[in-house]
Amino acid sequence: MTYLIVNGPNLSALGRRDPSIYGSLTLQEIEDRIKARAQKLGVGVAFFQSNSEGAIIDHLQQEGPASQGVIINPGALTHYSLALRDALADLPVPVVEVHLSNIYAREPFRRRSVTAGAVRAQISGLGWYGYVAALEYLTHKA
Ligand code: DQA
Repeated sequence: MTYLIVNGPNLSALGRRDPSIYGSLTLQEIEDRIKARAQKLGVGVAFFQSNSEGAIIDHLQQEGPASQGVIINPGALTHYSLALRDALADLPVPVVEVHLSNIYAREPFRRRSVTAGAVRAQISGLGWYGYVAALEYLTHKA
């Protein structure tokens, strides 16, 4: 029972990157909160972050099918990566797209997600809790 938690470009810089938009937690601190919730839910989580589109797609292809579900914050890939969209559409497990910020309340170029149409659901604007909400949904134990 393992869920993949995947973060895309620049999410490695969380904590110092625009804290007024993305919050002050580092990615490690967010992952610790997800892990704590996963333990209470009795499920496993496996984390992956990359700044590279290809590495993310390789990871999804290799690890996605055997997982129970995928939670992904694609970062800016959200807005233009059709290759990532195709990879997400090809997964046989449920996928939830998460954004820390509300992308629909930001610059026009962020208001379009090319990946959202290929996933089960999108959570946007709940900060770090969005990942936990996605995990609760995927485990149906909320
Ligand atoms: C983001 C929103 C994207 O527009 C941005 O490029 C990110 C983070 C979010 O979590 O709010 O890197 O996905």
